[in-house]
Amino acid sequence: MAYDLIVIGGGPAGYLAAERAGAEGLSTLLIEKRFIGGVCLNEGCIPSKALLHCGHVYENAKEGKEFGVSVDNITIDQKYVIERKNKIVNTLVSGIKGKLKKNKVTVVMAEAKIVGRGAEGFKVEANGETYEGKKLIVSTGSVASTPPIPGVKEGLESGFVMTNREILDLTEIPKEFVVIGGGVIGLEMASYFNSVGSHVTVVEMLNKIAGPTDGEISTILQKNYEKKGITFNLGCAVKSVGDGKVNFERDGKMESVPADKVLLSIGRRPFTENLGLESIGVNTERGRILVDDHMRTNVAGVYATGDVNGGIMLAHVGYRETEVALNDILGKKDIMRYNAVPSVIYTTPEVGCVGETEDSCKAKGIDYEIVTLPMMYSGRYVAETEKGDGIIKVIINKKYRNVIGVHMIGNHASEIIYGAVTYIETEMPIDDIKQLIFPHPTVCEVIREAIFEF
Ligand code: NAI
Repeated sequence: MAYDLIVIGGGPAGYLAAERAGAEGLSTLLIEKRFIGGVCLNEGCIPSKALLHCGHVYENAKEGKEFGVSVDNITIDQKYVIERKNKIVNTLVSGIKGKLKKNKVTVVMAEAKIVGRGAEGFKVEANGETYEGKKLIVSTGSVASTPPIPGVKEGLESGFVMTNREILDLTEIPKEFVVIGGGVIGLEMASYFNSVGSHVTVVEMLNKIAGPTDGEISTILQKNYEKKGITFNLGCAVKSVGDGKVNFERDGKMESVPADKVLLSIGRRPFTENLGLESIGVNTERGRILVDDHMRTNVAGVYATGDVNGGIMLAHVGYRETEVALNDILGKKDIMRYNAVPSVIYTTPEVGCVGETEDSCKAKGIDYEIVTLPMMYSGRYVAETEKGDGIIKVIINKKYRNVIGVHMIGNHASEIIYGAVTYIETEMPIDDIKQLIFPHPTVCEVIREAIFEF
């Protein structure tokens, strides 16, 4: 008997698809080759937050004097940090397994391969068995890009070079820690190892860190970390690694930095290898599965959600894409929109952004107005971050007088940005936002302050 739905991949996009499909009464099979929870839960979003929190506690203890708190003999036990992280991951993975069970999802732990069409649907092989599914959601995620830079392959084999996978299990604190790529993974790990005492060097090809983040915000972030001792080599392309060094080119000249451990964080690519997509004729482009705004592939009944479709590679985007795909399967009206996707960098200070930037407004010819305020407009921010240099930028559409972008740097930004998502998604006029009551004193009040400037 064919399942109503087979989901391949048990990361955020896949487990949510299976969980929700089961709840809707669809007979559902989830096939996962490594671990339920995928990269996000096991070797990405959650474990990195667990490490970063330990780093914050350690840093706060060291800086306690500033707040009238003195603690002697402050140390950090990296082995304990990793054990704690593993416990947290296990708790959350168990929670997901529990939900899948509750919703009567069948889970098979094996590598899945699509092998063609059967009498009732798509045939998928796993663990020597062949399963059939009337519909298919492919959520096989992404893997770290590993460029053909000399020394990288050998470094990955020897443990000198690490990706997000290995770094989150590192039980020692390297003296010299070099990060290749100043994007989100690079910055979060640079932040952690800086907080626990490594000397951290970031080598980034572009002339700014934090990729597409607003330029003023990435400059503030860089300055904060330079003050904490991180060295940034911008506009520098790594040419080789090995012999305890990372070698890069700056303005046509070669330079080196010493390294005990190297993190390779230069982006991720969709994972579709050996998946058998060709057996049913699913269109791909450079490894990513092509989808429309209902997450449908070119093959009726086959969907691709999460990193594997090569869109915005964020767990929360995968969640939403999966809901859109499932609604299509269930015959409910829905469509994927990407205009209000929040992005957060869990550094100190935190960065939270959503919607248009000044640059994107200019590129799209949007008539916009912008207000920039220091985070110091919030009483709670000052109480907690006396010397903070955070800012908030609110961008509105001049014609329609609604918020189209919010960009902030300052602690709590990761939690606050959600409010701005609501304004953008619902196209709430700023005059309506002015009538909302914000809790006082909170850091989110800076949004209110900025809105009243228009
Ligand atoms: P990324 O795309 O954010 O950053 C990679 C950086 O490496 C870029 O700035 C690029 O210019 C640089 N680069 C590329 N080749 C280089 C070279 N040869 N030498 C020096 N620099 C080079 O990719 P990252 O940080 O690996 O993250 C991967 C994915 O994981 C992202 O899509 C991100 O969305 C997701 N992620 C999200 C997080 C969050 O939301 N907080 C946290 C961690 C990851």
